[in-house]
Amino acid sequence: MALYSEKVMDHFTHPRNVGIIENADGVGEVGNAKCGDIMKIYLKIDNDIITDVKFETFGCGSAIASSSMATEMIKGKNIKDAMALTNKAVAEALDGLPAHKLHCSVLAEEAIKNALKDYYDRHGIAYDESLFPESDHDHEEA
Ligand code: FES
Repeated sequence: MALYSEKVMDHFTHPRNVGIIENADGVGEVGNAKCGDIMKIYLKIDNDIITDVKFETFGCGSAIASSSMATEMIKGKNIKDAMALTNKAVAEALDGLPAHKLHCSVLAEEAIKNALKDYYDRHGIAYDESLFPESDHDHEEA
């Protein structure tokens, strides 16, 4: 069996939603200290709906495929659905990732959550801190 599924290869070689959104409503950046990979997600939100999403990922193929798939999965969805997206769902949508590459999909989940948190912060909307990954040292304001 090939190490990577066809879907992973497809999203890696033809990533969807690459780029940045000027005047994004929320931006989330996460990094993995071990591999050094960085992922940044930009959201445009209108009336609770994610109308546009883009990403920049400086990282491995699985991280790029995960970002691409995750952005496809939340585009057009409401905030609640985007908050519910798990790294497991992203990995499953990619028809699986090798065990040592699962952390790449975790970056996608966390980057989206951080972008939503940034949206709440910018708009003065109250939220439950416990729903978000701990903001760590490598989370910086752009
Ligand atoms: Fe670190 Fe993939 S190896 S994100």
